[in-house]
Amino acid sequence: MQAYFNRAEERKGSDGADGHCSGSSAGLSSETCRGTPENRARLRQRNSIVSESMGIDRQEFVNLFERNRRRSRDLFDTVVADAYESRPIALRNPICFYEGHLAAFNVNTLVKRGLSEAGIDPEFEVLFERGIDPEDESAVGGKPFRWPSRQAIQAYGDRADRAIRDALLEKEIVCDENPVLRGGLAAHTILEHEPMHQETLRYMWHRLPYEKKIRPAGAPPLEIGGKPPLPETVKIPAGTATLGTTLERVPFAWDNEFPEHRVEVPAFEIDVFNVTNSEFLEFAGAGGYEDRELWDEEGWRWRSEAGIGHPLFWERENGRWYWRGMFERVPLPPAWPVYVSHAEAAAFARWKGKRLPTEAEFHRAAYGTPGGTERSYPWGDEPPDATRGNFDFRRSDPTPVGAFPAGASAWGVQDLVGNGWEWTSTVFSGFPGFEPMASYPVYSSDFFDGKHWVMKGASPATAKELLRRSLRNWFRGNYPYVYATLRCVRELKD
Ligand SMILES: [Fe+2]
Repeated sequence: MQAYFNRAEERKGSDGADGHCSGSSAGLSSETCRGTPENRARLRQRNSIVSESMGIDRQEFVNLFERNRRRSRDLFDTVVADAYESRPIALRNPICFYEGHLAAFNVNTLVKRGLSEAGIDPEFEVLFERGIDPEDESAVGGKPFRWPSRQAIQAYGDRADRAIRDALLEKEIVCDENPVLRGGLAAHTILEHEPMHQETLRYMWHRLPYEKKIRPAGAPPLEIGGKPPLPETVKIPAGTATLGTTLERVPFAWDNEFPEHRVEVPAFEIDVFNVTNSEFLEFAGAGGYEDRELWDEEGWRWRSEAGIGHPLFWERENGRWYWRGMFERVPLPPAWPVYVSHAEAAAFARWKGKRLPTEAEFHRAAYGTPGGTERSYPWGDEPPDATRGNFDFRRSDPTPVGAFPAGASAWGVQDLVGNGWEWTSTVFSGFPGFEPMASYPVYSSDFFDGKHWVMKGASPATAKELLRRSLRNWFRGNYPYVYATLRCVRELKD
């Protein structure tokens, strides 16, 4: 067992949107929510009232929790046994870590930090506490390390799941006196943490050799499409965008989504469609990867040191380009959005004489309307469904751009939510008045380092409950593994 702790001490950094991992598991006191049996009974009664008044339905929480756990188990089952300890992305932990992490995070956050109760396995709860997000591969610990078996990790997961189910159904998971439990914060936190990882795990699985993963039964065939639509732009007049949110609007949001505030956005012109593989091929063919002028300093260093000459999702053989899909390789679909790093996206925009949208411009294009009101989703206020875009795990790869006209924004901009996150030119940081969240204090603030960029929207592997308008995702500019695309903007004179 000692080896586990050696590994934990080797960790460098922490993983960002990719990680969503607990910091210290030391619990805040929730004595005010416990006390004598009579107090507990009274508080339980009050808790159920608070729960109802705050829209908390214990059984619904359990249903979401069990759906999350089932989906994660299915995901890990698609990896063949001999790849379980492999590390498909060198900058991340091996696959086995994440199966332990999902369960340990739930215990650390809800049971230990929230309810101030003992955990289940102190060694596992340290070993699997946090992921990694090093700047480059040289920072990743290279020493041999013995991980627990999958059987041991799953046995821990089963015990953890029982504890969480019990807590969600029976314990004082809402307590105004405890900031970790206020409004059911810790329970909400674990329920969003897991689907976020389900997306980042898919990035990882995407890099696994095909013989190391099992295609799930019933996976839909790829929609390759034909020629991409002709590029179009639309003018968005100057106006206001509401960024962030408030607990009056949503039952839960991550700390970096608060506080809600309004931003004046000057007029701009934006692409109706995401940049396609076809357009990006022109950029690569025109020497875009070799033109120093198109790259910022950090992007150029990454491109030069790593020998980058095309998007990671592209592969070349006998003079032909292919797309590396999740379960099969196909000739490069010209109408699919290109998936690239922020550095590549920004270089493309410069080549076009344009730039990436700011976070506020994205909001304006996605949620603003000519009448001045703002929508919950690009298409309106109706909840997301399969007609609105490529999200919620229905597919493992993109669809052609513009395939979901029912998801267009009020300005006619397509695919703003779904089919690939969209890089912005906004550096990730806290909104004015930012406060770290009590249930997970290092969730965002560890990444306010000027090296991570905001992404908005959603990808095929983003759960529908994460399509919240205020949700912000972020990654390093040189991280090419994510399902992230781009569109360009240019400023307009009013
Ligand atoms: Fe995490």
